[in-house]
Amino acid sequence: MTDLRVRPFEERDTEAVVALWERSGLTRPWNDPRKDIARKLRVQRELFLVAERDGEVVGTVMAGYEGHRGWVNYLAVDPSIRRAGLGRRLMDEVEVRLRALGCPKLNLQVRRDNPAALGFYAALGYVDDASVSLGKRLERDEPG
Ligand SMILES: CC(C)(COP(=O)(O)OP(=O)(O)OC[C@H]1O[C@@H](n2cnc3c(N)ncnc32)[C@H](O)[C@@H]1OP(=O)(O)O)[C@@H](O)C(=O)NCCC(=O)NCCS
Repeated sequence: MTDLRVRPFEERDTEAVVALWERSGLTRPWNDPRKDIARKLRVQRELFLVAERDGEVVGTVMAGYEGHRGWVNYLAVDPSIRRAGLGRRLMDEVEVRLRALGCPKLNLQVRRDNPAALGFYAALGYVDDASVSLGKRLERDEPG
């Protein structure tokens, strides 16, 4: 995958990125992907990366560091080029950037019904922290 470039997200990537997330099964009715992108552009936007090949967006990863842990969301690789190392490369790029900020540990959430992602993260050295993932919505994205 030498003809492939990883670079920070730019506004012109929005529709291609949303389409990739939809193809990758990452969108949810309660998360408006365009609002998620707009929020990320206000906070550490340099940690939102895309992979581009021949002008096409073929991968994404959105990371953040809040001073204690690094977090990763929206990791996606185009279905046509999975199992060719791009997911690993995107995670490596994120790790380099988070380490440079002094981040000591990365956390992420994976849905239990996503064996591909669980297999992928296990291969990269991620282990089950035996924690329960809790969440509380502060802003509703869905209309009405
Ligand atoms: C998860 C995902 C990003 C992996 O991307 P990828 O580019 O295919 O991953 P890589 O080629 O870098 O894989 C690295 C290693 O992870 C492991 N791996 C990757 N996909 C796997 C799978 N489906 N099942 C088991 N192990 C897997 C393998 O050990 C692989 O090495 P190998 O190909 O030499 O066997 C991709 O499957 C994807 O976009 N899935 C849909 C979106 C998603 O679920 N994102 C994560 C949300 S938490």
